[in-house]
Amino acid sequence: MLQIEQLDVRYGPTHAVRSVDLSVGEGEAVALLGPNGAGKSSTLRAISGLVGYGGTIRFEGTDVSTISVHERAARGIIHVPEGRKVFVDLTVHENLQIGSTAACGRSDFSLDDAYDLFPALRGISGRLGFALSGGEQQMVALGRALVGSPVLLLVDEPSLGLAPLVANNVATALAEIGTRTSLLVVEQNVHLALKVCTRAVVLRAGEVVLRADADELGDRSALLSQYLGQSDITAPIV
Ligand SMILES: Nc1ncnc2c1ncn2[C@@H]1O[C@H](COP(=O)(O)OP(=O)(O)OP(=O)(O)O)[C@@H](O)[C@H]1O
Ligand SMILES: [Mg+2]
Repeated sequence: MLQIEQLDVRYGPTHAVRSVDLSVGEGEAVALLGPNGAGKSSTLRAISGLVGYGGTIRFEGTDVSTISVHERAARGIIHVPEGRKVFVDLTVHENLQIGSTAACGRSDFSLDDAYDLFPALRGISGRLGFALSGGEQQMVALGRALVGSPVLLLVDEPSLGLAPLVANNVATALAEIGTRTSLLVVEQNVHLALKVCTRAVVLRAGEVVLRADADELGDRSALLSQYLGQSDITAPIV
């Protein structure tokens, strides 16, 4: 599905991603963890074509280096960016409808699927984007990505700024989404990531410092806490 070899991303003098190897198998959900500035968002941006990079990114066997951002989306690489980015002057329903423009003939997820995953959106389908709470914006951003029928869904920090209960609901929805499409989820909340993903890759200062299956991470929590600069990283979020 996705094979990344020796990925390098630079912003002028800043070497944000350094020789990163990463893969996501068909139907697999992988977590990309790491502290602030580790290069997580830059890795996702390289995959969706939003930044230039060195190294190789293959999607479904094809080197995508010369393929544009919109063509990558058309092929099913759908990116939910950090900060959600809903259209503030469109309604919830219109935001969701826009996502379907990326579907390009795929029909794995419908608008109804988005509403079924996030039932809270049904009651506010006519509300404008600017009037949504952070949790509602995250649901719209994920719902909009879904109706694009992703083959590979890239999600950047879905829990950021959300109350624990809302973050937990988003994690439940992501876990459900992960049964239907391949997922690469960037998180700082390890507990949430492990609810959704079966494998984790930890970045620090642009480099991979740890790879582990989800069930091994509990045993390696001391190491992981050290890398993430957090204590009690496997504690439940609610
Ligand atoms: N557009 C940019 N121009 C210059 N430097 C950038 C740019 N975007 C990111 N960087 C730098 O690249 C490095 C990696 O940033 P990136 O956003 O990928 O990290 P991150 O792991 O997503 O961090 P966070 O958890 O804070 O979102 C950081 O040092 C950051 O300052
Ligand atoms: Mg980031």
